[in-house]
Amino acid sequence: MAPEPDRRETRSADETERLGAELAGRLAPGDVVLIDGELGAGKTTLVRGAARRLGVTDPVTSPTFTIGQRYRARPPVAYVSHVDLYRLASLRDEDPDLLADYIGPDTITFVEWPDVGEREIAELGRVTQRVRLVHAGGDRRTIEVRSSS
Ligand SMILES: Nc1ncnc2c1ncn2[C@@H]1O[C@H](COP(=O)(O)OP(=O)(O)OP(=O)(O)O)[C@@H](O)[C@H]1O
Ligand SMILES: [Mg+2]
Repeated sequence: MAPEPDRRETRSADETERLGAELAGRLAPGDVVLIDGELGAGKTTLVRGAARRLGVTDPVTSPTFTIGQRYRARPPVAYVSHVDLYRLASLRDEDPDLLADYIGPDTITFVEWPDVGEREIAELGRVTQRVRLVHAGGDRRTIEVRSSS
């Protein structure tokens, strides 16, 4: 049976960053985190907090001209990847290695809008956590974290 999700509410972007940092403490190199939630729900904000905790010093922003961004992290994590598949209708017409650049044994990967790539992601890496963010009015967000293992 799937484990119950950990359900929390945050009241600011800062709190969501802190939740991301907390989540990062449970991750190991090779892990992939899938992040669902509507536009503006706070997916990138959560990734920003997680990336900081993992040693990323560059500013973490939404990838614009590519599907993802790779940041140097702190050993034993060589890289943090941030992938956003929002603009991708299908992977069928894409280079098969499109996602391979962002997933690997020395990397922790966060994927926003993962649906279109879920099968490929699962083949390339180890999905250990699924996060879902939901608008709860104003600056409040409900955030569920579910371990896949
Ligand atoms: N509790 C909260 N948690 C996260 N973000 C919040 C919260 N309250 C307000 N915000 C604001 O909501 C916005 C969230 O933007 P963010 O880019 O993180 O969302 P997103 O889910 O990645 O959106 P997109 O689907 O466009 O990529 C930011 O402007 C942030 O400051
Ligand atoms: Mg985003």
